[in-house]
Amino acid sequence: MKPRTVVVIGGSGFVGRHLIAQLVAQGVRVRAPTRRAERARHLLLLPTVEVIEADVMAEDVLVRLLRGCDAVVNLVGVLHSPAARAGGPTYGAAFAAAHVTLPERIRAACHQAGVQRVLHMSALGAASNAPSEYLRSKAAGEAVFHNDPTLHTTYFRPSVIFGPEDRFLNLFAELARAVPMMALAGAEAKFQPIFVGDVARVMVQSLLEREAIGATYSLVGPHVYTLRELVRYAIHTAGYARPIVGLSPCLGYVQAWLLEHAPGGPLMSRDNLRSMQRDNVSSASLPFGLHASTLESIAPSYLSMHRPGARYDQLRKGARR
Ligand SMILES: NC(=O)c1ccc[n+]([C@@H]2O[C@H](COP(=O)([O-])OP(=O)(O)OC[C@H]3O[C@@H](n4cnc5c(N)ncnc54)[C@H](OP(=O)(O)O)[C@@H]3O)[C@@H](O)[C@H]2O)c1
Repeated sequence: MKPRTVVVIGGSGFVGRHLIAQLVAQGVRVRAPTRRAERARHLLLLPTVEVIEADVMAEDVLVRLLRGCDAVVNLVGVLHSPAARAGGPTYGAAFAAAHVTLPERIRAACHQAGVQRVLHMSALGAASNAPSEYLRSKAAGEAVFHNDPTLHTTYFRPSVIFGPEDRFLNLFAELARAVPMMALAGAEAKFQPIFVGDVARVMVQSLLEREAIGATYSLVGPHVYTLRELVRYAIHTAGYARPIVGLSPCLGYVQAWLLEHAPGGPLMSRDNLRSMQRDNVSSASLPFGLHASTLESIAPSYLSMHRPGARYDQLRKGARR
């Protein structure tokens, strides 16, 4: 059942980079559409990858992309959206476009291009009654494929994903350099981080195994941590000692509102905070007999790059001094 050609939509991002590298290592040809080819520069170096600048929201573009392919992977996701309008769906317009309309277009394009196999990336905690718009829209995206049994879909629901390019542990390690203390909203929320390489391994294996068709895989690492523990771990591993102060729900809300309106774009939002009202954990183990890596066996290799002086050392190494 090994596919020869796979379209990876959203392949220019964090998960896509690792998934595509593993697909290429298996000898699979990959088409990776992106809105800006520059964002997918790192993929150009890989053999058997074709980076295509395209607007995947246009259905005819999707049909052309999918024609002649054996499977399509949907990795597109956004973390922020203007809030939902009264009387409309219970999630905002950017969530609706990326998490619901795009899956609908992918589904339609699959039928037109004759592609049956779909891997769809959702999120742990996705539910129509979830506290956040992000998670409700992710549930609606899953439903698009659930409602179409003629497609052979596998669903992936990861907790927070860590790895060299993550914007979670790296963000806190970077912040520690700039601030004397960490004021943390949702400090006691629980997560079960999974390594991006493990997420990619499960996805690649799913393409090879028949039992994956119709399955939903919760993707979690071996240990549960509170947000406070994760932040403490990230900043200590990056070589900083910073006190962490948990904010009350009210102050956390104000902080999230301020960060939502940050000049360079939202760093966090009230909706992100709402998603933390439910623990992001699962008792599931990885399928296909795979074992999840621990955070402690992977994260120091990249968090240590944030250590004071690490950049200078790198430059020196680069200059061979
Ligand atoms: N990272 C995590 O901790 C985590 C946890 C749970 C679930 N997930 C889910 O896993 C998936 C991949 O996450 P990631 O961390 O790899 O995300 P990412 O690095 O932000 O990459 C997202 C990708 O989606 C594409 N994209 C975003 N908005 C788009 C739009 N409106 N139209 C078309 N393409 C769009 C981007 O492509 P361009 O090149 O066109 O910009 C990019 O390649 C997402 O669905 C996310 O919700 C992630």
